[in-house]
Amino acid sequence: MFTSKISGLGHYVPENVVTNDDLSKVMDTNDTWIQERTGIKERRHIKKGDGNSTSVMAVKASTIALERANLSPEDIDMIVFATLSPDMYFPGGGVQVQELMGMRTIPALDVRNQCSGFVYAMSVADQFVKTGMYKNILVIGAENHSGGLDFTTRGRSVSVIFGDGAGAAVVSRNEGEGGILSTHLHSEGEHKDQLSLQGPSTEYWVPEIIEKNPQEDIPYYPYMNGQFVFKHAVVRFAEVINEGLKANNLEASDIDMLIPHQANLRISQFIQKKMRLRDDQVFNNIQKYGNTTAASIPIALSEAWEEGKIKKGDLVVLAAFGSGFTWGSVIMRW
Ligand code: UT7
Repeated sequence: MFTSKISGLGHYVPENVVTNDDLSKVMDTNDTWIQERTGIKERRHIKKGDGNSTSVMAVKASTIALERANLSPEDIDMIVFATLSPDMYFPGGGVQVQELMGMRTIPALDVRNQCSGFVYAMSVADQFVKTGMYKNILVIGAENHSGGLDFTTRGRSVSVIFGDGAGAAVVSRNEGEGGILSTHLHSEGEHKDQLSLQGPSTEYWVPEIIEKNPQEDIPYYPYMNGQFVFKHAVVRFAEVINEGLKANNLEASDIDMLIPHQANLRISQFIQKKMRLRDDQVFNNIQKYGNTTAASIPIALSEAWEEGKIKKGDLVVLAAFGSGFTWGSVIMRW
């Protein structure tokens, strides 16, 4: 059995900054509400004509990750791509990255686990590297939310939260100490409707949606039962971090850097307090980018690394919770 490690990280966000004040011009919201409830000051949105899409942003982040891993596209043995906002309904984003980066006819696997997507994707990559089947796997989280949100007052409790962006990690066979120590994944489908986008789908086909009166509750915008999700998130985050620590005989005080999925700054602060972590043990950047779902952890991890906040030998923990519900953690020695 081998072990795996992250050999390169990269991230990309669109240039177009959308502030809370910008949103308050198109819907009934305000900077105070958004900052007090979520911690978000601004987010990035793809601008029509800027050339970005989910897969294009994924390629931009991946190119940086590959450079930092000192690898070229032909060195990659597999792509694992997590997104809930692919460019096309099918095929998934993985094959688009394979084409755009001129990669060999390697497998491209798409992961549909929303906010937990990157953690699930890391776990998949870890298993393939551990068994010796592959040496270098490109793991991506990328989202284009802005095109599919309701920017009227009706959608304000969801649309002010989400942003666009991409992050990527190269997971490679580990020749030294440490690397990924363990991954832990969970789901609870009974809460699938609490944070969901129901159509277009085989339940709500496009003609049916078009026929419906726009005044009806048409399920083509995301729905979130915010308080219900919040309450479950704070419990599951702490639970799955502790599960990972316990599996490795570690304590919360051993964590050098916790990168929580950037769902809401209040959730991160709640977990930090619950786990008695210092400010320097937790990284948050939701203030600048909003919640970028599957992209939030790799963007935050890449930014923390760039800022020199992750050093060799550090215990790094990734943790996520979101739609499904799904949740998970990755425990790594850098
Ligand atoms: O990443 C995946 C996982 N997602 C999460 O973990 C998100 C979890 N949930 C949350 O982060 C929070 O529940 C939200 C930020 C989504 C909402 O915050 P909240 O404190 O739960 O607010 P609420 O939904 O209970 O709404 C409170 C009030 C309502 O008005 P009334 O009924 O009290 O008059 C809303 O209509 O705030 C109103 N409201 C807004 N006001 C201004 C909702 N959205 C907005 C808005 N601007 N954008």
